[in-house]
Amino acid sequence: MKHVTDFARARRELRPIVMIAIYDALMARIVAASAADAILVGDSVAMVVHGHPSTVHATLEMMCTHVAAVRRGAPEFFVVADLPFLSVRRGLGAATDAAGALMQAGATAVKLEGVTGHEEVIAHLVGSGIPVMGHLGLTPQSVHVLGGYRVQGRDPAASERLRGEAQRLEELGAFSVVLECVPAALAAAITEERALPTIGIGAGRGTSGQVLVLSDLLGLDGQFRPRFVRRYVEGHAVVREAIDHFARDVRAAQFPAHEEVLA
Ligand code: KIV
Repeated sequence: MKHVTDFARARRELRPIVMIAIYDALMARIVAASAADAILVGDSVAMVVHGHPSTVHATLEMMCTHVAAVRRGAPEFFVVADLPFLSVRRGLGAATDAAGALMQAGATAVKLEGVTGHEEVIAHLVGSGIPVMGHLGLTPQSVHVLGGYRVQGRDPAASERLRGEAQRLEELGAFSVVLECVPAALAAAITEERALPTIGIGAGRGTSGQVLVLSDLLGLDGQFRPRFVRRYVEGHAVVREAIDHFARDVRAAQFPAHEEVLA
């Protein structure tokens, strides 16, 4: 996919959208050559790459650095960039500057969490030529208000609230929305009601697409095993075994071999 209109077309044609969250140029080259449709430079970079306990620690500078790296690795790809913690809460000017910085770093679109309280920002960004992807349900930047990483929208009132938020996002001009950790039936109902494509993570099968963090689907973290992630490879074991193999070879004087020595 190259344009926001490709998301709308995929939704109309009921063709599932595949988005992968990554943070660097090397992985961007691999994703760009894969069957995935879009890249997300998620603020999960603060946790996955920088080792912070939550996405609250992502900064605009951090996001711009990773967006630029991803763009260098995937010059033609659709790249969504997360607006980091509080960047849409400091007024319209600051939000516009933050979104502008991400776009100039190489993003095709920005993603922001929630809708209540930043309706004006969303409308202004869209009106300024910046495609906006929403993010509803479990919004990790609000983890301290939510009281942890929990499924959202389980009770009828919360479910109604989420449906209303999805409607407002659509009305404000968002081109797509991530639904994170919401009951499958609710995600399917929102997808059914709305024209904008829904991208699920921990939201069941009834969404217009799915997103996973690449390091999760590669199983690079041996400890992190949420139910909604499918590990396509036990990457932590594969990488560890490769390193151990290298160490054994070096200590046994098996590396470098004759053909690996430069003349
Ligand atoms: O930051 C991120 O990686 C995300 C995905 C989990 C949707 O927002």
